[in-house]
Amino acid sequence: MKKLLYLGQWFLRARLFGRKAPLQTVLFISDICNLRCKHCSVYELKNPHNMTYEQVGEHLRKSYAAGSRFVDFEGGEVTIWRDGDKRIDDLIDLAKAIGFYSCTITTNAQLPFAGSHADSIWVSLDGAGAYHEEIRGKGTFARLEKHIAECGHRHLCVNMVVNTLNRTAVADTIEYAAKNPAIECISINFHTPFEGTEHLALDMDERARIIDEVIACKKRGYPIMNSVSGLKLMKTNRFVRRCWVTDFVYPDGSRGLCAGHGTGICDRCGFCMAGEMASVFSFRPDTVLAGLKLRV
Ligand SMILES: C[S@@+](CC[C@H](N)C(=O)[O-])C[C@H]1O[C@@H](n2cnc3c(N)ncnc32)[C@H](O)[C@@H]1O
Ligand code: SF4
Repeated sequence: MKKLLYLGQWFLRARLFGRKAPLQTVLFISDICNLRCKHCSVYELKNPHNMTYEQVGEHLRKSYAAGSRFVDFEGGEVTIWRDGDKRIDDLIDLAKAIGFYSCTITTNAQLPFAGSHADSIWVSLDGAGAYHEEIRGKGTFARLEKHIAECGHRHLCVNMVVNTLNRTAVADTIEYAAKNPAIECISINFHTPFEGTEHLALDMDERARIIDEVIACKKRGYPIMNSVSGLKLMKTNRFVRRCWVTDFVYPDGSRGLCAGHGTGICDRCGFCMAGEMASVFSFRPDTVLAGLKLRV
């Protein structure tokens, strides 16, 4: 109830009075990773950063004070994060103690995460079997399957990023997620052409065609997290951006908007949250419901 009241108040202030306070935080605790995925520009080899427990605490408190109530711990890879005897679960406990309503982690599932303290877990899945491994490396799919099966968490979803390497695998990946009893839902995102990975982005016509395929699956009852309204906006990417809803904190301690902001790639952004947020602000009931289901 408390969460619903806060969400209602936050939304009214934003919608009616134009108040731009963040609601969620994406906190990159490190840019160190145990994989080298072809589509990724986040992992850092030359000059890696790893936040300390204290630094994470400071950032969480700042975000909370600014209005944020939901946090997603990101990397790099959160399951390999260490600061002395502190692990990712200690960061989740800290966020809860500060007052965050819910904490999620996003992981490549190469290490076990059974017993995670997170309220929900996002596992990155870029296709079933060979498609996933083409992007993420040999052996990554078997380890992911094993750790998902062992996890036992009630809220585990998978996140697919569609690019030129796995564009033909979308329907099969949705089918795989639906059939796997350990997976609650799948979200579909598209490759965002950050510097050095531009060649993996789809053209907008192909993207629109794939979105129609995803919408058809959703209408047939597949457990797809994206709302139909949000998906439709992503077909053209022509909508008012509300990226300020998310407070981004980067591994080097800098804070601000999405890394794409100001780089000229927003019209080719593939993050489904951009469309979902725009759709929430237009009072689209399916998106509001999808958002509540995800967060509350
Ligand atoms: C940067 S990773 C960090 C978390 C973790 N290492 C993992 O792979 O799940 C977070 C998510 O961003 C996605 N991602 C990476 N590069 C992307 C890009 N250029 N466009 C869209 N999503 C991207 C990944 O597939 C993953 O789902
Ligand atoms: S596992 Fe995640 S952070 Fe690591 S390289 Fe792949 S997408 Fe990037």
